[in-house]
Amino acid sequence: MSSFFALFLVVLLLHTVSPAPVKPPAGWTLLKAADPKEMITVTLAVKQANREWLDTTLRSVSYPDSPYYGQHKTLEEIATHVHAHPESVAAVKKLFQSVNVEASFTIGEGFAVADIPIEIAEQLFSAKFYQFQYKDKSDVTTTRTLGFTVPSYLKPHVDFVCCMDQFPEPERKTKLRSYGLPQVTPNSIDKSYNILGYSGTNTNNSQAIAGFLKQYFKPSDFAFATGFVIYVDGMVETVGGTSCAAPTTAGIISLINDVRLNEGKSTVGFLNPLIYKLNGKGFFDITKGENYGNNIFCDGFKAIEGWDPASGWGSPNFGILKGLLN
Ligand SMILES: *[C@@H]1O[C@H](CO)[C@@H](O)[C@H](O)[C@H]1NC(C)=O
Repeated sequence: MSSFFALFLVVLLLHTVSPAPVKPPAGWTLLKAADPKEMITVTLAVKQANREWLDTTLRSVSYPDSPYYGQHKTLEEIATHVHAHPESVAAVKKLFQSVNVEASFTIGEGFAVADIPIEIAEQLFSAKFYQFQYKDKSDVTTTRTLGFTVPSYLKPHVDFVCCMDQFPEPERKTKLRSYGLPQVTPNSIDKSYNILGYSGTNTNNSQAIAGFLKQYFKPSDFAFATGFVIYVDGMVETVGGTSCAAPTTAGIISLINDVRLNEGKSTVGFLNPLIYKLNGKGFFDITKGENYGNNIFCDGFKAIEGWDPASGWGSPNFGILKGLLN
């Protein structure tokens, strides 16, 4: 365990303090220096004031026993409480103004986003960018730096800078004991999660996916999207790509939101406190299987009756959940 934490600390230090790692992640090879005119999107997370309000408020609207349960806040309401320190906004503006670039800020000035040429990024962050290729795939390339430095005047004002040195993750393979893989189809999803053919109708319903890594997948969206995930007895196989288990669950929660919206209620919001209060009700318990560890830090977890770290409470049973969460 202590070696785990030691390693974790080292990784953390590498991430927060330059000098940067000198090698790209496994599978990536350096092709050549980046084209100085190529554009890159740089995102700075600006230090926020009053974050405690967010935490307290999130709890008060998410815990089912709270008198404020379900009274979600709009982004605008949140921004009146939680927003960037003005001096931090000024420091970030100063950075971009030094190269005549106007960054755009998200609501509450939480993030500053700017599209800048590589040569400007290199100048601002004392970095050198290269083009990298993934394995032998000449169509899977990315332009990244192996390290950068945030100007010291700016350091107290930003939480992190994204995503000049983070590489796309083209594939993640989990070891799988073969049970014979079923094909995942809308029909089988409907069956497995007891959706009973329900489909959403409420036009106010929407579903968002956090898209931090989105820009990574330009110029190769396509190549990374080929894989999919299959759940077999609580085990997961990721075949060359992004998880589809999370979107499936998100889709089921969206259907529950649909039921609620149609009855004039709020959406479920942050769901975990409610799920834990249900204590397993509304889920198909998964009792067999395990997620294998990576053989470095741990052996993985086994699914058992009731909650377990491999499968949580299990997979959602829409037919039951829609009653319980409504
Ligand atoms: C959508 O939301 C608006 C504003 O809250 C409301 O007036 C309208 O009735 C809602 N529509 C549906 C289909 O629930």
